[in-house]
Amino acid sequence: MRRMDEWIMMRSHTCGQLRSADAGREVTLCGWADTIRDHGGLVFIDLRDRYGVTQVVFDPRDSSEAWTLAQQVRPEYVIRVRGVVELRPADMVNPKLATGEIEVRCAFIEMLNRSATPPFPLDDAGSERVGEDLRLTYRYLDLRRPSMQRNLLLRHAAVMAARRYFDRLGFVEIETPILTKSTPEGARDYLVPSRVNPGLFYALPQAPQQYKQLLMMAGFDRYVQIARCFRDEDLRADRQPEFTQIDVEMSFVEPEDIYDLVDGLLVELCNAAGRPAPSLPLPRMTYAEAMSRYGSDKPDLRFGMPITDLTDVFRDSGFKVFAQAVRQGHVVKAINASGLETVPLRVTDEWTEAAKSAGFAGLAHIRVQPDGSWKSPITKFFSEGEKTALRERLGIQPGDLVLFAAHEADRVHSFLGRLRLEAAAHAGVIRPEAMAFTWVTEFPLFERDPDGRLTSMHHPFTAPHPDDLDRLDRDPLSVRARAYDIVLNGVELGGGSIRIHQPDVQREMFRRLGLPDTEIEERFGHLLRALSYGAPPHGGIALGLDRLVMLLTGAASIRDVIAFPKTQKAVDLMMGAPSRPDPKQLREVHIRTLVEP
Ligand code: AMO
Ligand code: AMP
Repeated sequence: MRRMDEWIMMRSHTCGQLRSADAGREVTLCGWADTIRDHGGLVFIDLRDRYGVTQVVFDPRDSSEAWTLAQQVRPEYVIRVRGVVELRPADMVNPKLATGEIEVRCAFIEMLNRSATPPFPLDDAGSERVGEDLRLTYRYLDLRRPSMQRNLLLRHAAVMAARRYFDRLGFVEIETPILTKSTPEGARDYLVPSRVNPGLFYALPQAPQQYKQLLMMAGFDRYVQIARCFRDEDLRADRQPEFTQIDVEMSFVEPEDIYDLVDGLLVELCNAAGRPAPSLPLPRMTYAEAMSRYGSDKPDLRFGMPITDLTDVFRDSGFKVFAQAVRQGHVVKAINASGLETVPLRVTDEWTEAAKSAGFAGLAHIRVQPDGSWKSPITKFFSEGEKTALRERLGIQPGDLVLFAAHEADRVHSFLGRLRLEAAAHAGVIRPEAMAFTWVTEFPLFERDPDGRLTSMHHPFTAPHPDDLDRLDRDPLSVRARAYDIVLNGVELGGGSIRIHQPDVQREMFRRLGLPDTEIEERFGHLLRALSYGAPPHGGIALGLDRLVMLLTGAASIRDVIAFPKTQKAVDLMMGAPSRPDPKQLREVHIRTLVEP
């Protein structure tokens, strides 16, 4: 087998390779002309490839032919040069470049290809200023930018680290079909017509969920797949219509086993990305705790400002708004936005408006003055005992801003959860480099959809919490699931659950979700049959690889860590997809469209 350096036929080195120790060597380099400068008759070209940049120099005294050609080089021309490595004079050394101590003095240049003028500058600073649509239309140019190259290389490193980790632990990577049947993950399916089965459609998988469970029934007790998933849903910065999961399933496990497995994986991935690894075990909190303390099932733990319960403090308060709320069975809670005493009135007015649109009568708050005194229209109604309790529970210091909300618990949590994020952004307390992981456990089994129907919060294969089974009929919304999410910096990285492995329980679950028996058979008959042939207890998780790499690289959007992403409107601007098929193609798959060209 050839060694890598013997492979390089057209070049002897890459543009990131040469150092002072190479001085005197004759080398051949290939790459893109990054910048071209003409100085006192010498032509300097910064030659770039994905490994780095090397300065090459043309002097008419070495070869007037090469020097003349070098003058015709424009940005992004692809050239091949041959010359001798020379040490740069001490005052010309560029400490910012790995190759900054040398340059290559060339007497030979070959134009491998010309380039039209790129539609935007390919350096990171320049391209930040152009619209993303332009970058996506010319994605192959956008990907030449150093930051995009770094992102994709780091993504590769993360995938390799994950594969090594799972392989070491005896996991088997198994591919599952892309042309398959609808499997519910809460989004719409992408459909693919079948030519040979007129009128029938495949669905692209929203996740390999059922296949990985079927693999457990097949006896592969440790499955992993770097899996493509497809979901037709409204897109955001952390959502794409096709994305990648690190998809995992195991037999004979408890949730703790999954937590341990993923904890270890995340350490390896942080190491692979050169980020500080978290100490283990990663923190865990229940869904109920996450909602009541952070107002979110994906709490951002890079900063504190927890939502603090004051309901008992204000039970008999002289401040009627709060006392009345408590009497109605509502809660009174607050966050201490540390250091925000000085936010302008404009900001607290904005937040008060937000409170009003969220259904609150207003937004009571206290500005804690530098001398420790409280500035607020409401504190005159508070007793000394109430004030002391506030001080203790909220850790009130001079310079703080305390924000209250009184209403039904869910409403208070969701509003204060949002306000907490806003306040933290204002206070500048979110350290961008921090990596705050947490598990959120014991999610509810069900939620109500907009039409009031019971739906699965995770998916219908999720096992109920054994302690809550008696409430399945009486109070289904209070039943916890054996489901968990892993959260990083306020982003849901992954989610999973222990699955139902008994066919009768699974059938009962489908019924509870309102599926008639005929539909259960049609959609899930295969799964129920498989469960009836000795299915092992099993569970798993899927981590969003794109989101993970986004957070590891510090990118603002998952589009920046996907080579060829789609826009918010699910369009591939470069390829022009989706597009109108040829009428003949449509006929072949037995489709007539309702939309006229
Ligand atoms: P879930 O639907 O929670 O679980 O998805 C798991 C993780 O996949 C990522 N993700 C996405 N990333 C980018 N774009 C999207 N549109 C998108 N949708 C989801 C998220 C999410 O946490 N089959 C189950 C897993 C299981 O039960 O084992 C599933 O897919 O990071
Ligand atoms: P009021 O006595 O109605 O003027 O209210 C006194 C203060 O309490 C005002 O600053 C209101 O904005 C605030 N407030 C009223 N209702 C609520 C509520 N449900 N939660 C938080 N603050 C409130």
